[in-house]
Amino acid sequence: HQQGNIYEAIGGEEAVQRLVDAFYKRVAEHPDLTPIFPDDLTETKRKQKQFLTQFFGGPQLYIQEHGHPMLRARHMYFTITPTRRNAWLSCMEEALEEAEIEEPYRSSIFERLTMTANHMMNTPE
Ligand code: HEM
Repeated sequence: HQQGNIYEAIGGEEAVQRLVDAFYKRVAEHPDLTPIFPDDLTETKRKQKQFLTQFFGGPQLYIQEHGHPMLRARHMYFTITPTRRNAWLSCMEEALEEAEIEEPYRSSIFERLTMTANHMMNTPE
């Protein structure tokens, strides 16, 4: 499969929903992340599901509703240190496992998200 087929290959909408649920369950409990996330993650989850759907090659749901992601700019409001980047990625690594995203997709998704997370850092420790 090519990258564009990842969305279908991992199981489409249901798989992305499992991943987002498993991820924000961890974010909501991670001491490095709770200070910058809202208490109610409903809207955050909805947007992330839209974003990941298109990131995996599915329908362009995020762009349709919010326009170009400009993720680095949208993250500038938040203090994102290397510690927070590591916390985000560890929540995601565990979520990929809980959501039973199969190899080789799991590793390739994690690799791409690691690059994106590196790009989101905007503050030294
Ligand atoms: C929004 C933190 C990395 C995608 C947010 C929000 C925070 C945050 C605090 C705002 C939540 C809200 O107010 O609803 C972080 C931290 C990261 C990180 C600490 C660590 C590096 C990433 C990565 C992606 C991503 C790698 C790409 C998959 C998004 C999206 C939104 C978002 C799509 C919603 C943007 C919008 O408001 O439309 N993030 N983020 N983030 N993040 Fe991240």
